[in-house]
Amino acid sequence: MTPLSCDYLVVGGGIAGLIFAIKASAHGSVIVLTKADSSEANTAYAQGGIASVWSVSDSFESHIEDTLRAGAGLCNRTAVEAIVRDGPAAVRELIELGTRFTRIEEGSEDEYDLGREGGHSHRRVLHAQDLTGREIMRALGEAVRARPNIQVLENHVAIDLLVERDASGRRGACWGVYALEKQSMSVRRIVARATMLATGGAGKVYLYTTNPDIASGDGVAMAYRAGAPIANMEFYQFHPTCLYHPEAKSFLISEALRGEGAILRLPDGTPFMKHYHPDAELAPRDIVARAIDAEMKRRGLDCVYLDISHRPTAFVRERFPNIYRRCLSYGFDLTAGPIPIVPAAHYMCGGVMTDLRAATRIPRLFAAGETAMTGLHGANRLASNSLLEAAVMGRRGFEAARSLLAEDRSRPPEFPPWQADHTIESEQRVLITQSWDEIRRLMWNYVGIVRSNLRLERATRRLEMLDHEVHGYYWDHRLDSDLIELRNLVTVGRLIVRSATARKESRGLHYTTDYPERDDSHWLHDTVIEPNSRS
Ligand code: FAD
Ligand code: SIN
Repeated sequence: MTPLSCDYLVVGGGIAGLIFAIKASAHGSVIVLTKADSSEANTAYAQGGIASVWSVSDSFESHIEDTLRAGAGLCNRTAVEAIVRDGPAAVRELIELGTRFTRIEEGSEDEYDLGREGGHSHRRVLHAQDLTGREIMRALGEAVRARPNIQVLENHVAIDLLVERDASGRRGACWGVYALEKQSMSVRRIVARATMLATGGAGKVYLYTTNPDIASGDGVAMAYRAGAPIANMEFYQFHPTCLYHPEAKSFLISEALRGEGAILRLPDGTPFMKHYHPDAELAPRDIVARAIDAEMKRRGLDCVYLDISHRPTAFVRERFPNIYRRCLSYGFDLTAGPIPIVPAAHYMCGGVMTDLRAATRIPRLFAAGETAMTGLHGANRLASNSLLEAAVMGRRGFEAARSLLAEDRSRPPEFPPWQADHTIESEQRVLITQSWDEIRRLMWNYVGIVRSNLRLERATRRLEMLDHEVHGYYWDHRLDSDLIELRNLVTVGRLIVRSATARKESRGLHYTTDYPERDDSHWLHDTVIEPNSRS
């Protein structure tokens, strides 16, 4: 296939990628790749909203302190301050681009309805009822379609970055990607002067996740293979409350319900969160998820219950229409009694290390959103700070890429076409599905909410073996998107396990029974995995 070229290549069409693309389109040609339909992204599933200092009674200092507290000592204060302070401008830009956040009655100073979520000391979450992500995607999608300079290529799966090599084989700048076009099953080179990785999270590495199918950590795996350091992968966030129902596929029950007074109960109706934290249901997410896990294990329960039925029926239906309807479709009436819930993998706090211009260590490669690690979240992300970070860093990444291209006259080197030799049709689909299932199950069982040396050792051994098998399979067989994802899932699984094994303490989202205490004297730093410099 003929190579494509552009000034700005954006891998990923969620909030981070689209904001970058919209801004970049005023300065050059833009290509956006999405691995599935362009509407499918973690962003589209966001319920609670986007955290930003908006109320006159709120302050940057308070949002900064809440973020630092949730991050359990590992946030980078400079990153927290910069991102929180950029928040209102990023939210205003979303509004100018057409996002309709839920408003309150005219005459109020705040204008928008501000939700409350765990760990926040103020109401500061702008939302569009309980479908915030869908509304943001609608507005950004329309803005993209109105800009002829942006070409969106759906069903294009980025496989690997195009990375320059010098005569001695040392890696240099990134000039785009190889991508699989899913319909024709052919691989094309897409050459760009600046590349933004905005591929979202990796929930698919766990058996139970709130994330849609696209979330297989491709950005982290590609960047790692290309030579970028990856940090803090042990801090995978589990959302405490997903609907427990065989067909619900870990449907999220927003933290905003607890913000509006929902109570976690045992099967006999007893509330239990007060025993774990003075803020009870509004404690940081790591504490709530661990408390639920502990109660379920101690009592041999399949689930616990969330109850908002004491709030007025009209309020619940109006504030949470989507969650109300979905629960009803599974036979649970939020307004009539408690609903069954369990935790599930939700958010990757670690990722590709970037500075506050979204620059990775690889020249010309930027990363933003869930795939990046800026230092905002530390050991545990504060609710609704993810959309905030993605919006702010998409903007900041654009500024950095634009100044790079403004001064730059270099030309890309020639990259060879994708080598399709030696690739035989796969007869053994079962090998892929089996490996896939094994990874997700072992990550859930051994590297979940509670870890131990023994479990991590087992996970290490199994993943090493799977990596070996997948590697052989990968180069021998005809490439498809399942195989691309499988290879990335093994890499991401191994990065999580390596980071979790390295951290010999418990902090934030990483809890191990062998080192149950936080140990600031040894572990008050990020876990950074440096790739092999020449591989
Ligand atoms: P995404 O929105 O996930 O977009 C990723 C994009 O990358 C997609 O377009 C995908 O197709 C593309 N892609 C991936 N791999 C490839 C590849 N190899 N080639 C080409 N394209 C690729 N956060 C909040 O702050 N507030 C909330 O209320 C909230 N609620 C949430 C509810 C749910 C159910 C979930 C799952 C997450 C929620 N989060 C929330 C987290 C938040 O939605 C995400 O972290 C954020 O939207 C990530 O945005 P992103 O732009 O980084 O990536
Ligand atoms: C939610 O609505 O509970 C999700 C919020 C988040 O993940 O930030």
